Amino acid sequence: MWPVDCIEAKRDGKVLPAEAIFRFINDYTCGRIADYQAAAWLMAVYLRGMNDAETAALTRAMAESGDTVDLSPVGGIKVDKHSTGGIADTTTLVVAPLVAAAGVKVAKMSGRGLGFTGGTIDKLESIPGFRTVLGKDEFFRQVNDLGIAVIGQSADLAPADKLLYALRDATGTIESIPLIAASIMSKKLAAGADAIILDVKYGDGAFMKTVEKAKELAQTMVRIGKAAGRPTIAVITSMNAPLGMAIGNSLEVDEAVAALSGRGGRRLMEVVPEIGAQMLMAAGKAASVTAGKTVLDRLVKNGAGLEKFRRFVAAQGGDTAWIGVHPLTRAEKIHTVRAEASGYITAVQGGEMGRIAMESGAGRARKEDTVDRHVGIALHKELYDSVAAGEPLCTLYLKENADGDVLGRRCLACFETADELPPEREPVVAAVITE
Ligand code: URA
Ligand code: CA
Repeated sequence: MWPVDCIEAKRDGKVLPAEAIFRFINDYTCGRIADYQAAAWLMAVYLRGMNDAETAALTRAMAESGDTVDLSPVGGIKVDKHSTGGIADTTTLVVAPLVAAAGVKVAKMSGRGLGFTGGTIDKLESIPGFRTVLGKDEFFRQVNDLGIAVIGQSADLAPADKLLYALRDATGTIESIPLIAASIMSKKLAAGADAIILDVKYGDGAFMKTVEKAKELAQTMVRIGKAAGRPTIAVITSMNAPLGMAIGNSLEVDEAVAALSGRGGRRLMEVVPEIGAQMLMAAGKAASVTAGKTVLDRLVKNGAGLEKFRRFVAAQGGDTAWIGVHPLTRAEKIHTVRAEASGYITAVQGGEMGRIAMESGAGRARKEDTVDRHVGIALHKELYDSVAAGEPLCTLYLKENADGDVLGRRCLACFETADELPPEREPVVAAVITE
């Protein structure tokens, strides 16, 4: 099929054969199809959708558009973990050392990405000396010896996704379930893991605003994984309030250390054991979710997870003297936001807090933006906590030229308080999707 035939077929709601999808993606990646044709095709997909076979073909075509990683030098079942993007989402930095301490080989390639804060790689780079570039041999040796290595992903991983995402961003075609599912899963398939655990977010601060939409996205990704022979499980979690208590790169590393030391926030520590236990099961290291959670709990209590984190940081050249001693460097300019009334916190608007952190320099609105690793927001209260008038709700760490009063007022407006807790409280983990 010629490009225009593909566009017309999708425009008219027809099903595209896999070969047509492969050729379209391949030709676009090689520059043989113009942006305006690809953009028109994306809009047709956005409006008409795709069936499972089309979505699986699109995902594979994108996965095979560049480098694919061969993790076979690492023994055992390799499990990858991915979050669709949240606020105060430090899960990876807590889960990865914990499951590594339980014997799972974590060979992770992480992106920088767009968003409210940097990606896992940006966060790790807030540790002085930490190297996110390792040679192939060094990477595999570290995973085999220590059980964990995290490096920046190859620039040529799923290049079709980079091109298509930029077009989608400029043409109003981001919020499409098959396009999001193919985008995420193409990178996961190219990264080479045997099994994939997804944390699919819903709510105010997420791509998917409702549980139903998040489930639909999760089911689509689980089916793509199955079709590609990579068992995939999705945990659906709420992003109606920040997950952890830190939004910002160095702040989130500090929070990961706190969580590994047994001082994790309530919401974060609802998600960590769920994701971690799913990873242990996928790797054949636990017989049930309950058994997996018991193992992870022990590894927090006996310090083995924190010790794995320390060795992982040291192996990649990072300073470890601060761990358990003092926090990482934070911006010197601070502004504390205090509660105006006593009561219970009944809402924390995560999306707006994420935007405030991003505008303060913690994240990237565009891919060429640089991330300031020392700015962000430290929360002192979580959703459903009680608070007394005058108590600190959060502390902003700001660049010298930021207006603390303005940003502080915006943060204060993110918190809602009431005299009583609501009778129905939303759990963080809404569902686990296995098929
Ligand atoms: N994250 C991705 O990687 N791709 C999307 O399309 C949406 C979220
Ligand atoms: Ca993130």
